[in-house]
Amino acid sequence: MHRIDVLTLFPEAFTGYLNHSIIGRACDRGIVDIKLHDIRAYSHDKHHTVDDYPYGGGAGMVMKPEPIFEAVEAVKSDIGIDNIPVMLLTPQGKLFTQDMADHLSQEQVMVLICGHYEGVDERVAEHLVTEQISIGDYLLSGGESAAMVIIDCVVRLLPGAIGSDISLIEESHIGGLLEYPQYTRPPEYRGWKVPAVLLSGNHKEISSWRRNQSVIRTAKRRPDLLEKAELSEVDYQILQSLSAS
Ligand code: 6GU
Repeated sequence: MHRIDVLTLFPEAFTGYLNHSIIGRACDRGIVDIKLHDIRAYSHDKHHTVDDYPYGGGAGMVMKPEPIFEAVEAVKSDIGIDNIPVMLLTPQGKLFTQDMADHLSQEQVMVLICGHYEGVDERVAEHLVTEQISIGDYLLSGGESAAMVIIDCVVRLLPGAIGSDISLIEESHIGGLLEYPQYTRPPEYRGWKVPAVLLSGNHKEISSWRRNQSVIRTAKRRPDLLEKAELSEVDYQILQSLSAS
């Protein structure tokens, strides 16, 4: 059983999402236990203060350290392990990748802290957190949606979360390229036909068409991915014919 503890000012933001589809089913099957913690419950004053003005001035508010430290310490003592991954979700973090998701799916437990306002007191990052993560080069108003992205990526990799592991194997087979185009019935819709090769029943031709489509698509949309992709001789020929045309 894997366990993910989420520290947030908005636990309600998660419930609809987590109860759905693959993640919801993984929870029901006992593959993962996702625990939501309201950071506000760890503030001590009567107004349940979780933020304060920034030292040195400037716009916005900063999340106070005490409730976050105490919430993480409560989680650690509940689990009975002190040395667990504690991730802060912040635009200042390291860019989240599939590789990181693969590594995190090997961990039995992890804590996700959702940052908010103009930021989190730096002592949290320095003395509590083991890793700071961003999900991309854009600004979100809070870490909640980023936490859901990470939970989704990690949970679907857990054994038993997806109906069969075949789709995961196929995905990794694509070797760092974008997926090929997919079609389903009807074979013709509003005059737009499904590529004939997919209806041919010739599995060898279908696989080679798909591979070529992946290569072409990646070259056009994400040329940066080609550098790390595992390419065959035929793949290189496809790329050459692209640059020639
Ligand atoms: Cl993790 N948080 C916020 N606030 N913005 C982001 C982000 C995280 N990742 C990308 N943008």
